[in-house]
Amino acid sequence: MKVLVEKNYEAISKTAGRIFIESIASKPDIVLGLATGSTPIGMYKEMIRAYEEEGLDFSKVKTFNLDEYVGLSQEHPSSYAYFMDNELFKYININKENTHVPDGKAENIEEYCKRYDEMINEAGGIDIQVLGIGENGHIAFNEPDEALSAGTSVVKLTENTIEVNSRFFDSLEEVPKTAITMGMGSILRARKIILLASGEKKAPVIKRLLNDNKVTTMFPVSFLLLHPDVTIIVDEEAYNG
Ligand code: F6R
Repeated sequence: MKVLVEKNYEAISKTAGRIFIESIASKPDIVLGLATGSTPIGMYKEMIRAYEEEGLDFSKVKTFNLDEYVGLSQEHPSSYAYFMDNELFKYININKENTHVPDGKAENIEEYCKRYDEMINEAGGIDIQVLGIGENGHIAFNEPDEALSAGTSVVKLTENTIEVNSRFFDSLEEVPKTAITMGMGSILRARKIILLASGEKKAPVIKRLLNDNKVTTMFPVSFLLLHPDVTIIVDEEAYNG
């Protein structure tokens, strides 16, 4: 695992943005794995800047998002589909048909989850995946548990995650209790993984990830230790606490 420690949030956003921008420039039909949450927003701003100022072309880029709440439509302002439109897609020349966020309203959700992994495979697999990290070590919505799904699946969110994510909703009660998430296998099949963390709240999990040489389902991010091409980009607060 490669670790890059940057001064602050702006610096991690620039560094991660640069990696994505260069990857898109060298492979215009690249398949990106994208995340929501607060952390990648600055990186998305960098990508928008590259589109506006450097003419970066997204017309052939395909994207797959990690997760979505069950029950929320794409138009719901707290849905991850809505988030992606408003933080990235509507500002760049991406073809909306090439963007994929799991469908929280899918009728046969189990079938849909299988189909989501197939769609990723049919697109050629994810070239580069960005991840945030939960304070409990979750990646995507793979929460600490006795077993983790290999493929995309429906998962129950922990009380902790519901509480932390309630900042994106009007009230705690409105946060859905289940979500669709790419599984650990879906994530680990990405050719390259960039994990971003910012702020002192993430320091304990980053410390554990970098010091504990153990893989356990109770600490989902530890599975990244098995991947051959992971770059962790953290700011000083997330690194030192
Ligand atoms: C979002 C996702 C989550 C977040 C994580 C960190 O698509 O999969 O795992 O990456 O909860 O969220 P932030 O960045 O808000 O701290």
